[in-house]
Amino acid sequence: MKRLISVAPMMDCTDRHDRYFLRLISKNVMLYTEMIVSDAILKGDRDHLLKFNPFEKPLGLQVGGSSPKDLAEVVKIAEGYGYDEINLNLGCPSRKVQKNKFGACLMQHPDLVSECVYQMNKNTRLPISIKTRIGINQTEDFEVLNNFINKIKSAGSKIFIIHARRAILDKLTPKENLNIPPLNYDFVYKIKNLYEKDTVILNGGISKVEEINKHLEKVDGIMIGRAVYHSPYFLAEIEKEIFKNKDVLTRPEIIQNMIPYIRDEIQKGTRLNKIMRHTLGLFHGERGSSNWKRYLTENMCVKNADVQKIDHIMDKIKSNYTTTSIGR
Ligand SMILES: Cc1cc2nc3c(=O)[nH]c(=O)nc-3n(C[C@H](O)[C@H](O)[C@H](O)COP(=O)(O)O)c2cc1C
Repeated sequence: MKRLISVAPMMDCTDRHDRYFLRLISKNVMLYTEMIVSDAILKGDRDHLLKFNPFEKPLGLQVGGSSPKDLAEVVKIAEGYGYDEINLNLGCPSRKVQKNKFGACLMQHPDLVSECVYQMNKNTRLPISIKTRIGINQTEDFEVLNNFINKIKSAGSKIFIIHARRAILDKLTPKENLNIPPLNYDFVYKIKNLYEKDTVILNGGISKVEEINKHLEKVDGIMIGRAVYHSPYFLAEIEKEIFKNKDVLTRPEIIQNMIPYIRDEIQKGTRLNKIMRHTLGLFHGERGSSNWKRYLTENMCVKNADVQKIDHIMDKIKSNYTTTSIGR
């Protein structure tokens, strides 16, 4: 399994359309779904929540939950959909998530987490990974983190994705929790030193190839969130520089390759903006990038679009990037 570089699970961002688009840019990164709550999987529209295009693989499903019994069911269901890994969210700080007792607040309940991981591992052949923070609220203590990871390992998980920041649940909003608690990469490096045979993946604040290379000397893999979502073509640089892949599509080729997918999805009833919104940052940093964003913003929200209308818009989108110097 390729876990050298992965794209972080991000709510409202890494849905199946985004993942298809990212996969066109990078063949080698691991992708994850947004967090899906165990209760939704058990009681909701499973196909809608879990179905994906095999082109997106390798793909991990991230689940949020704290009922060992429910999670045991969820992993069995997920295995049937063809995921490559199941990840348990132990890092999300949102209030709603806390109220339901999952996400980062579970760091305060290591025995319960251990039972969840144990049941998950027992009920699937898929690898179980966890995604957590280095600490919670005022606690940033290496021994506490180490004990937590140790319990999870004993319960059967061998892949630890660690966002190198505390989650401060009582004082900060989810957005602030992505920026304000200081990054402490040393804790993640130290975990790797102690868990030599396991996979330790570092996450948080990484946006340059040089940073990736530096961290890869100390850990097994890097997970990147916002830098990829805001500038998806960063993945092309990662393909070239990290995976030494010379066969990377240009930005216009990526859009060209999206067209059959879009046509197919529109026919199934998907709205154009559900797909195209993820491509807003494709030309990030290029001359003409604002034209791309403006054109998309003005045109992707068509209502009741039929395939002909979409073809017309896609033609315009194509001519837009050829006439404005973007993507040259
Ligand atoms: C819009 C958004 C949504 C997120 N949703 C999730 C989520 O569903 N599950 C999760 O574990 N982390 C979630 N995160 C946190 C990211 O996975 C990642 O840990 C965080 O952004 C730090 O990585 P970065 O600095 O590379 O962005 C989210 C982050 C953002 C910005």
